[in-house]
Amino acid sequence: MKFSIITLFPNLINSYISESIIKRAIEKNSIEVEVIDLRNHTTLKHNQVDDYQFGGGKGMVLMVEPVVNAIESCKTQNSLVVLTSPQGKTWNQNSARIYASNYDHIILICGHYEGFDERILDYIDLEISIGDYVLTGGEIASIVILDSITRLLDGVIAKDSHLNDSFENNLLDHPVFTKPIEFRGKIVPEVLTSGHHANIEKYRQEGRLRNTFNKRPDLLEKSELSKSDLEFINKLKKVKGDN
Ligand code: ADE
Repeated sequence: MKFSIITLFPNLINSYISESIIKRAIEKNSIEVEVIDLRNHTTLKHNQVDDYQFGGGKGMVLMVEPVVNAIESCKTQNSLVVLTSPQGKTWNQNSARIYASNYDHIILICGHYEGFDERILDYIDLEISIGDYVLTGGEIASIVILDSITRLLDGVIAKDSHLNDSFENNLLDHPVFTKPIEFRGKIVPEVLTSGHHANIEKYRQEGRLRNTFNKRPDLLEKSELSKSDLEFINKLKKVKGDN
């Protein structure tokens, strides 16, 4: 899968993609990342890419021409053109799954300053927001989108390990532990060191349900629960009701 990231701050993107799992994914050719410096696509003096907004008002607005030139420098018939913006559709794990399996080339445009010339919208397929807050720019949003898609691609992380991720079937992940077995009197649940796989899986499923019930009860309505899951949730509700 290829990502083309159009940005005013190429160093920000380059620094993230040159570390850790994304770096490995690039080395293994699971992804290709092209970082496009918006300033290389303006025809104006001093590499100008923004200007004051018509009608008055504070802040600089990204100009349409350099953005369109940058898109056209990398767009092919199979590209999806995404603008990161707080006005977009909110990104979530399900979006990451859909994009990971349906697209070969995603162009991510990092918005900046007070906004962008509205005419840019004619050249994009959709706007994506990573949450209801305003960032100083779209670089972090682009990295969030790139990272959450990449880790779902074949061969990037251990096979099927994302099947245990939070948000799989709209449940949060179960608690996990590592060495030491005892820390300041707190001991790792015995079942996890028992070697009994069925009991471990039961403990983990109950952990997913308990975590979701306590931290994100809104997700439970969207998850597909078995009869035993529902019985366990009813137990949790009863305990909560008793307190
Ligand atoms: N740019 C500024 N804020 C943003 C947000 N919440 N999501 C995506 N891009 C943004």
